[in-house]
Amino acid sequence: RTVYVNGEYLPETEAKVSIFDRAFLMGDGVYEVTSVLDGKLIDFDGHAARLARSLKELDMQAPCTTEELLEIHRKLVEINGIEEGMVYLQVTRGAAADRDFVFPDPEEVKPTLVLFTQNKPGLADSPAAKKGIKVISIEDVRWGRRDIKTVQLLYPSMGKMMAKKAGVDDAWMVEDGFVTEGTSNNAYFIKGNKIVTRALSNDILHGITRAAVLRFAAEAQMEVEERNFTIAEAQAADEAFITSASTFVMPVVEIDGAALGDGAPGPRALRLREIYLEESR
Ligand code: PDD
Repeated sequence: RTVYVNGEYLPETEAKVSIFDRAFLMGDGVYEVTSVLDGKLIDFDGHAARLARSLKELDMQAPCTTEELLEIHRKLVEINGIEEGMVYLQVTRGAAADRDFVFPDPEEVKPTLVLFTQNKPGLADSPAAKKGIKVISIEDVRWGRRDIKTVQLLYPSMGKMMAKKAGVDDAWMVEDGFVTEGTSNNAYFIKGNKIVTRALSNDILHGITRAAVLRFAAEAQMEVEERNFTIAEAQAADEAFITSASTFVMPVVEIDGAALGDGAPGPRALRLREIYLEESR
């Protein structure tokens, strides 16, 4: 696979980043994951806008223009022949001369930019979407700026491990009794013709797929209610689902051992998935 590092397209085995890179030492980096369907980027503009926001919130320099980023995305997709999959992008504050908590002078230290592709044939026609996924709830102990897409993913990784140990697929995180989001996705339930999901704030990532799905809700004759909800309320719902660039709309069929409806993916979640795939392709 060919990857991109700071201006160069290289075989992945030859790509190098300094051990003093602040993302390696401090988790001082942000990222984006953009999906690819039919060899085309899905919602690139949304991801680019969120990246710009993450950089701004952390007072980090942009490594290049959005047009240049798009060019790099497209080139990597082409070189690696990706029909279905993802492009991962990471920007870090760069490699300072030594380990230091204080941010380096942006005049001296330039950001690091890394991109690579992930080939995922069958991403759209996913068997998981036909079966639905099971989740458990776990406490949300992450920091208070979850709206910034940082590479500090240790707790989400631990959450996925807790889910794996419990024999399920993922975990929904709960803070002060209310669901925030999934370990790497936004969380929703459906009751009647209403989609309920937590409102945007610093408590959750502002999902690009979330924005698209809520826009398309009207097309599915559904209403949207953005508010806090509990695990008990989601368990008592008709359907539930998650969204992310890597799963699109994925039905949730079980929460903490309680099956939703008849335990199969719900028709409305599947319809939303269909609409999302049609509209964004
Ligand atoms: N995760 N919430 C969290 C905590 C996430 O990590 C993600 C994305 C989302 C969904 O955002 P979007 O719809 O823009 O992908 C919500 C990516 C896919 C990842 O970490 O791999």
